Amino acid sequence: MVATLYRPTWAEIDLSAIGYNIKQIKNTLSTKTEIMAVVKANGYGHGSVEVARKALSSGAKALAVALLEEALVLRRAGITAPILVLGWVDPKDSSIAAKHNITLTVFQEEWLEEVKKVPLTTDLQVHMKWDTGMGRIGIRTERELNEVLLALKQTPQVHLTGIFTHFATADEENSAYYEEQTQRFFRLLNIFQKKWPESDTIRIHTGNSAAAIRFPKQMRHYIRYGIAMYGQYPSQWIKSEKMISLKPAFSLYSQLTHVKWVPKGTKIGYGSTYTLNEDGWVGTVPIGYGDGWARDLQDFYVLINGKKCPIIGRICMDQMMIHLDQSYPIGTKVTLIGRDQQEVIEVDDIAKYLGTIPYEVTCMLNERIPRKYI
Ligand SMILES: Cc1ncc(COP(=O)(O)O)c(C=O)c1O
Repeated sequence: MVATLYRPTWAEIDLSAIGYNIKQIKNTLSTKTEIMAVVKANGYGHGSVEVARKALSSGAKALAVALLEEALVLRRAGITAPILVLGWVDPKDSSIAAKHNITLTVFQEEWLEEVKKVPLTTDLQVHMKWDTGMGRIGIRTERELNEVLLALKQTPQVHLTGIFTHFATADEENSAYYEEQTQRFFRLLNIFQKKWPESDTIRIHTGNSAAAIRFPKQMRHYIRYGIAMYGQYPSQWIKSEKMISLKPAFSLYSQLTHVKWVPKGTKIGYGSTYTLNEDGWVGTVPIGYGDGWARDLQDFYVLINGKKCPIIGRICMDQMMIHLDQSYPIGTKVTLIGRDQQEVIEVDDIAKYLGTIPYEVTCMLNERIPRKYI
C-alpha cells in the first residue's frame, strides 16, 4: 500500500470501536454462534490486517474476504485464523489457497472438475454457497446441489466444511423476502442433510450484519459481520429502530495548507463556478477526488474549531477550497469525517449527500490516505 507520508491528510481508525461493535453483537447471539469478521476491500477501507487482528482479539473466530489476494495479505501478516474467500476463485489457483489453508467458495460442478486437474499438495477446504434470492453466485436448485455434491464426493482432496447464503434485503423493514430466502435455505438444507454423511459437522452461516442484528437467535454457527463491526448501520431503518448501539471507527482529517483573504467577486476553482458574494477568508485543504474524496462533495462542508465550513468551487484531484469564517493559521486541523467539539460529520452524512451507502464511502477513500490506528 502506498501511504502518503508527507501531506497532512489522514484517516484515524479507532480499533477500540471495532472491539466495542463486536461485543455489542456478541451479547445478543446465542453462545453457539461465532463471529466471522468480514474484512474484504481492505477492511471496508479501514485496513484489513489491523481490523482482522483486533476482531480476533475481541472474540471473532474467523475472517472473510472477497478475493484470494485479500486472504493472502492476511496470511502474509501472520494471521492464522480460518479465512473464507466469499467470491469465485479461479480453480487453477486452488493449490495456492490449499497451501495457505484458505477456504474457498464452491457452487459449480465444473469448478470442481477443474480443481481435480490441479495437483494439490495439501487438501482444500470449501464452503458451499447457495443462492436463495440474491441472484449473484450460488447453487439455486436441487439438481445443481446434487451435481455439486456428486462432484465433491469424487474429489477427495476437497473437503466441504461449510454452507452459506447471503440475504438481499435483511436491512429492510419488510422482512417478507428475508423470510422467503430463509425458507429456501432450510428446504435445501433438509435435502442436503439427507444426502451428505456427517452433515452435522458442516458449519452453517447465513446472516450479514443486518440479519444478525435483527434476528440474532436465528443465526447458526457463524454470522458474517461486516458493516456494523465498523460502526456503521446497515440501513437508515435499522439505525432509526435503535436495535444496536455502534461506535464508528473511521475519522478523516486534514490541515489547512493555505489561507487567504479575498475580495467580493473572487472566483474559486476549475471552471470558476464559485464567486464570493462578499469579502472573506478562503482556505485550501489537501484532499481531492484523487484520494476518493468525491467531486460531488462540492457544496458539502467540513469542520474547523467545531464550525461548519462549506466546500466551495469544484473539488480538484488533490485539493479543495473551503469558506472560512475567519483567518486560521496554516496547519489548523480540518475534520472531514468525525467529531469536532459539538459538531460531527458521520460517514452516513456523506453517504446521504452523495446518494450512496456508508459502505461505499469508506471503501472509496483510497490508499493515498494513510490510516493511523488509535
Ligand atoms: C457474502 C457476504 N457476506 C457478508 C457480508 C457482510 O455484509 P455486511 O457488511 O452488511 O455485514 C458481505 C458484504 O457485502 C457479503 O458479500
